[in-house]
This record gives sequence, structure tokens and C-alpha cells, in this order.
Amino acid sequence: MGKIVAVTNQKGGVGKTTTAVNLSALLAAAGKRVLVVDLDPQGNTTSGLGMEAGEQSIYEALVGTSDLAPAVEKTDWDGLYIACGDIRLVGAELELAGIPQREFRLKTVLKPVRDQYDFIFIDCPPSLGLLTLNALTAADTVLIPIQCEYFALEGVSSLMNTLNRVHKSLNPSLGVEGVLLTMLDGRTNLGLQVVDEVKKHFRDKVYATTIPRSVRLGEAPSHGEPIHVYDPRSTGAVAYKALAAEFLRRNSMQAPADFAKDAPAKAGKKDGKPDKKKKGKNKKKK
Ligand SMILES: Nc1ncnc2c1ncn2[C@@H]1O[C@H](COP(=O)(O)OP(=O)(O)OP(=O)(O)O)[C@@H](O)[C@H]1O
Ligand SMILES: [Mg+2]
Repeated sequence: MGKIVAVTNQKGGVGKTTTAVNLSALLAAAGKRVLVVDLDPQGNTTSGLGMEAGEQSIYEALVGTSDLAPAVEKTDWDGLYIACGDIRLVGAELELAGIPQREFRLKTVLKPVRDQYDFIFIDCPPSLGLLTLNALTAADTVLIPIQCEYFALEGVSSLMNTLNRVHKSLNPSLGVEGVLLTMLDGRTNLGLQVVDEVKKHFRDKVYATTIPRSVRLGEAPSHGEPIHVYDPRSTGAVAYKALAAEFLRRNSMQAPADFAKDAPAKAGKKDGKPDKKKKGKNKKKK
């Protein structure tokens, strides 16, 4: 039965979507069958994978007018499927409020499909509203990206309070998959201090892999491609590959040899300069 992982942090812009897109795409590239559920009305996971929500999206499944199957689409990458989200999800937050068992809707619609996948990732919106509560109720674990910046832990205590509340009342088996440090600029002391602070707080839950700040990671979504397709040699691609390998190891699964051979991106290594030799080679894989 597929493991359901909610990628969550109510703080905006910390790398939730970037992580959901690239980790799920790399796990699919590693031979796993993966579903990504875009639960954010911004629809960034959907567009980041070059997709667009059709008539049936995760919205219809959530508000009970359809089951999930018609909303699931195959992406351009083998093994990677998506339940697209878009602006209609704003309405879901309101409509769900009047539905009995409103926090359990996503869990209910995922149940019949979860054995078709090895992993299901849910990209959460930057809030602790009903959409996120649905994700936390449906999930086995949470993956928490934390941006390496001043006040990085700001808001983490309210996230932890919510997780404790959900654990007590809605989902007693909810666990922490891992804490991921993102957008690290290892050239600054601040970045390294934040790493220390987060490690003190979350200890062995923190992934050894950190994600460096990388211009290429910011560019890839506008091309509708995961980073290992858009620029396989960028520091962002190397880091997310290392994360995928670490994720698989933590789940007692073996990573492909070429995932593990790349060392995690070195903090401080410069990125962002287009690689001239590769120019024009980053065509979408069909
Ligand atoms: N490691 C990185 N280096 C550089 N830019 C990044 C990195 N990770 C993410 N970004 C960029 O930062 C912005 C925010 O990232 P992302 O959308 O993944 O965050 P989010 O937590 O999903 O945001 P939201 O809370 O709005 O959903 C995006 O423009 C993304 O492309
Ligand atoms: Mg997002």
C-alpha cells in the first residue's frame, strides 16, 4: 500500500512545491510509481510538471461530486501521475466547512487508489486551513521543508501544535518523514547557524541532504520540467537526487546506483550560471 507523505509548512515560499515536484519526479525516475496531489489553489505543482487541471480536478473529488480517478492524469514522465489542482480549490476550503467528516475527505478519496502507487505526495498550501487538515489526516507522514533564513523556525511551533492536535484527534498514526533544509546559502554564517538551530530542534529527523539556493531550481517550473530533466548537472538536480536516495534509504529501499554516487551538493558551491555546453539540450522528454 502506497505511503502518503504531506509536504507541509504553513509558511509561504519555503520550497514545498519545489520539493514535491522534484522528489516525486526523481522517485518515479528511480522506478517507483508516484502520485502527486496538488492541494494548493495556486496550482504550482500542476504547472511545474507541465500540466493543467482539466474538467475534473482534485476539487471535484474533495467536495464529493466525483471520485479521484477522473482527476488523475499521467505526466510526461514514466511512473509519475498527478491529481491537478487549481484556483477552484479556494472554493473547496469554504464548501468543505459544511460537509460532515470534512477533515476526512482526502483520506476517503485516496483510499481506493493508494495501493496503485508506491508513494503519494500531497503538496499543501501555505496555511493551516481545511485543505491542509485534510492532507494531515490522510497522510502517514509529513515532510517539512524549512528555508534557511533568519526567523527560519518562526511558525514552526504553530505547525508543531497543529501536528500534535491532528495526531491526538484526527490521525493518531501521523509521523514525521523528515525535515529538509532548503535554499541554503552555505557561504553565509547565517545559513550555517540556521542549519545548527534546526538540527537542535528536530535532531535525526533532519535530512543530511540540504538543498542549496539555485537559480536553475527557480527557472525549471516555468519550463514545466523537474530539475533533473531541465538541468541534470545543476547543483539543484544533484541535491534533489541525493535527497531522493536518502528518502529511499530511510524507507528501507535501495536507490539506483547513479543517485547515490553524486555527493550532496556542497553548501556554498555557486550555481545559477547557465551551462553553455548544455544550451538547447533541455528539451521536454516525451
Ligand atoms: N533551492 C532553491 N533555490 C532557488 N530558488 C528556489 C529554491 N527552492 C524554491 N525556489 C523558488 O522559490 C520560490 C518558492 O518556492 P516554492 O514554490 O517551492 O515554495 P512553497 O513553499 O511551495 O511556496 P507556497 O507557500 O507559496 O506554496 C519559487 O519561485 C521557487 O522556484
Ligand atoms: Mg507551493
